[in-house]
Amino acid sequence: MNIGIIDPSILDDIARHLSQARRILFITGAGISADSGLSTYRGQGGLYNETVTDEGFPIEEAVSGPMFQRRPDITWKYLSMMAEGREGATFNDGHRVIAEMEHSPEVGDVCVLTQNVDGFHRAAGSENVIEIHGNSRELYCPACGWETQIDSYGEIREIPPHCPQCNAVIRPRVILFEEMLPEAALDHLFAEMNQGFDMVFSIGTSALFPYIVQPVVDAARRGKPTVEINPAETDLSDMVDYRLASGARDALTALWSQYSDRLRRSF
Ligand code: APR
Repeated sequence: MNIGIIDPSILDDIARHLSQARRILFITGAGISADSGLSTYRGQGGLYNETVTDEGFPIEEAVSGPMFQRRPDITWKYLSMMAEGREGATFNDGHRVIAEMEHSPEVGDVCVLTQNVDGFHRAAGSENVIEIHGNSRELYCPACGWETQIDSYGEIREIPPHCPQCNAVIRPRVILFEEMLPEAALDHLFAEMNQGFDMVFSIGTSALFPYIVQPVVDAARRGKPTVEINPAETDLSDMVDYRLASGARDALTALWSQYSDRLRRSF
């Protein structure tokens, strides 16, 4: 395992693997959006660090499916607070580099598996994106199927908001704690996994969930290069081939520049 903040020789190694990979998976978490000014959930300044809410519930219970059924006002209160933290923010160069890789004729097929609900990968131009925890900008009515897209939670006038068609409480198309993952996203992930990946990046995630860890484990087991980009260590850190203890934006822009230099040298 190689450790390097942004060591040119390590970057060149990663760029070489990238140039040889036909299929590349980028797994991302809240850390890639930290460079857009968004708080992460855990770690320094994490949204979940305040262990108990004003109402006396653990945050994971306040933003859970059962709580939404019982007390949607509480769930909406914390979903809105988290959304407020995203107001005015947008994608950063880390998201942009991954989108450029997807559309570059020199790079293999790119897939993004993101836990983020901010929509930044698509906004940056990525198309093959699996939003495994949904997208907070999409709102829908569980009762009648009404749906809409919003740009800002500031547009929501009441908490909890009601359906304009049937007056039931509406919700964002995100996965709350104790809820099942979206079937379409899982189908997309399984289809991608069945084709296999030649290289897997884990970027800005504490890697807590099995569906996030598994693609890295599979790649490592098949001897495919694995890379972690995260200033902090995670359970994946001892397993990956390369660990860049760096912010995602800096590491990805440095990698893209190294890759482009290699390409120029190869002509
Ligand atoms: N660049 C890269 N990584 C960073 C940066 C940065 N600039 N800043 C912080 N990190 C790392 C932290 O060290 C941490 O390991 O990002 C990670 C963020 O971890 P979490 O806050 O746990 O976020 P995430 O892994 O996406 O959480 C997964 O948990 O609660 C659920 O639905 C929620 O999607 C979320 C999921």
